[in-house]
Amino acid sequence: MSFVVLAANPRPQSRTLQIARLAAEAVSRAAGLPGGHQVIDLSGLARRLLLDEPSPAVEDALEQVRQADLLLVASPTYKGTYTGLLKVFLDRLDYQALSSVIALPMLVMRVPNHALAVDLHLRPLLLELGASTPAPGLAFLEPDLAEPGPVLDSWAARVAAALGRCAALAAPGEPTPDSATTTAPGRSPATVLAT
Ligand SMILES: Cc1cc2nc3c(=O)[nH]c(=O)nc-3n(C[C@H](O)[C@H](O)[C@H](O)COP(=O)(O)O)c2cc1C
Repeated sequence: MSFVVLAANPRPQSRTLQIARLAAEAVSRAAGLPGGHQVIDLSGLARRLLLDEPSPAVEDALEQVRQADLLLVASPTYKGTYTGLLKVFLDRLDYQALSSVIALPMLVMRVPNHALAVDLHLRPLLLELGASTPAPGLAFLEPDLAEPGPVLDSWAARVAAALGRCAALAAPGEPTPDSATTTAPGRSPATVLAT
């Protein structure tokens, strides 16, 4: 099973990246997922994303995202939504490119006023790409950076419960029950979790 973390802060080694890694570990623990996760830090690709020339590093990152079974998409909250860097990267994907992917949206933010942005703005972006988003998004507030464990564990438990329901509904080879999207036989998001 491929678990990919996509961190979309223009600054390298950001707190968003650190919290996203911890969130992925919490999900793996709570859901009993085998293996670890790969991290794509978009800060390292930012300059190449706006160039016309083909970039193997960008293509490789896009392919990792397309092939992910579980994709944690983490961005700092910018202007009440997510970063332009995330949008520029995801705009390179084709229509329904994430139809085999279960996505977990996550925003890091300073003020609680924007907590709903994760489900009002980031989740629809992932749905537009065909991803399934069975769990609530995580709005991670800066004051919780000092002690992130309780917030992450509580969210990870909800994610694990949602993933468990997907797996329970899935029968190998059947179309996914949690998405109207047609996917390759035997590789719907739910069947991947069930196997
Ligand atoms: C350009 C810019 C816009 C921001 N807009 C918001 C915002 O609308 N709401 C919010 O809560 N925080 C906003 N912030 C704060 C960041 O989301 C917040 O500090 C986040 O924790 C940054 O994560 P980082 O430490 O990984 O950079 C903004 C920061 C920047 C640089």
